[in-house]
Amino acid sequence: MKFIAFIALFTVSCLFATNDDNSFITKYEYGAMLYKNPRGIGCNKCHGNGKNEIILAKYRNKKGELKYIKVPPISKVSFEDFKAKLKSDKTESLIMPTYFLTDNELDSLYFYIQKLK
Ligand code: HEC
Repeated sequence: MKFIAFIALFTVSCLFATNDDNSFITKYEYGAMLYKNPRGIGCNKCHGNGKNEIILAKYRNKKGELKYIKVPPISKVSFEDFKAKLKSDKTESLIMPTYFLTDNELDSLYFYIQKLK
């Protein structure tokens, strides 16, 4: 009986222990979820599929010149740049929001965006 309880406990702890590819939710799936729902506006809302530059808005300034608000592609950004960007505070960007993601979340999110198609 004790042995069965031990096995059950062991199985459950394995399920929750890691986020690598043999647990109940893969790192890729976790990253995909965070991309759409990172406790804030989804990355997809601005970066779309992440592979191409996106024009978020067009406007004319006071001189009547046409201006664009562009969102860069993110699938080829280095992990250092990615982390720096996601950990930077509001003053750095007028457009991209500040997020409060843990290192583990950033890791999965980065794993996912590198595989964006
Ligand atoms: C409201 C629009 C918006 C949202 C939402 C958004 N971004 Fe951005 N992102 C931008 C813009 C615009 C830039 C260009 C630099 C700047 O203005 O901050 C950018 C820049 C970046 C960069 C730097 C790219 C480079 O070339 O260095 C990364 C990485 C990035 N975003 C990842 C993300 C991730 C991951 C999320 C979701 C957690 C996200 N962004 C959500 C608009 C957005």
